Amino acid sequence: MPIEVTVVTSNRGKFVEIQEMLQSRGWTVHWSRRTLPEPQADTLEEVVHAKLDAVGPARGWVLVEDSGFFVGALNGFPGVYSAYALRTLGLRPLLRWVRGRRRDAVFRTVAGIRHGNLRWTARGEVAGSVASSPRGRHGFGFDPIFIPQGGRRTYGQLTSAEKGRTSHRSRAILALARQIEKGGAPAPRAPARNRRTARPRK
Ligand code: IMP
Repeated sequence: MPIEVTVVTSNRGKFVEIQEMLQSRGWTVHWSRRTLPEPQADTLEEVVHAKLDAVGPARGWVLVEDSGFFVGALNGFPGVYSAYALRTLGLRPLLRWVRGRRRDAVFRTVAGIRHGNLRWTARGEVAGSVASSPRGRHGFGFDPIFIPQGGRRTYGQLTSAEKGRTSHRSRAILALARQIEKGGAPAPRAPARNRRTARPRK
């Protein structure tokens, strides 16, 4: 069945990556360029459910996602606070804090799709390491400092097609697309609790 979906995000980079992935599966992809309110939450799933709520009444399929960069040496920070950390601190303090320490990091995405009152979610992640300095001119956000496992180049040194082959986002979107295409059962809504706890979890 051909699926027409509207991706709601203010981030052009995310939209382009999602569009490439879903178009290659025959989906029609529209962009609603909006900033959705993000609650202070412990998990990416909670944020995704809040974004799906915030979309409001919508016709057809609506897709949102939330991503985080979890640095091992920082006990998972910035994690669910990645957007805020990047906006207020930038990349340099992160690089300073991991200097001389373990450099492992994980990128995670939770993607959610809604159709009427039904919703589905899926998670994707990629392990890797924090580069010693920013490299590359592609991508956005943390791309210049993340080296996915098994490679030597940062995401910033990969084209969006190369990144899309194995990225956290493509894994989440692919898992979501497969559920929808198979007619899989919708996900239960995440309970909206622990919204104010400060510790970043997965
Ligand atoms: P968001 O809350 O999902 O928009 O993302 C959290 C932060 O991570 C934002 O600052 C994004 O720019 C950044 N981010 C999200 N996805 C990626 C990615 O694939 N590569 C690099 N940075 C990302």
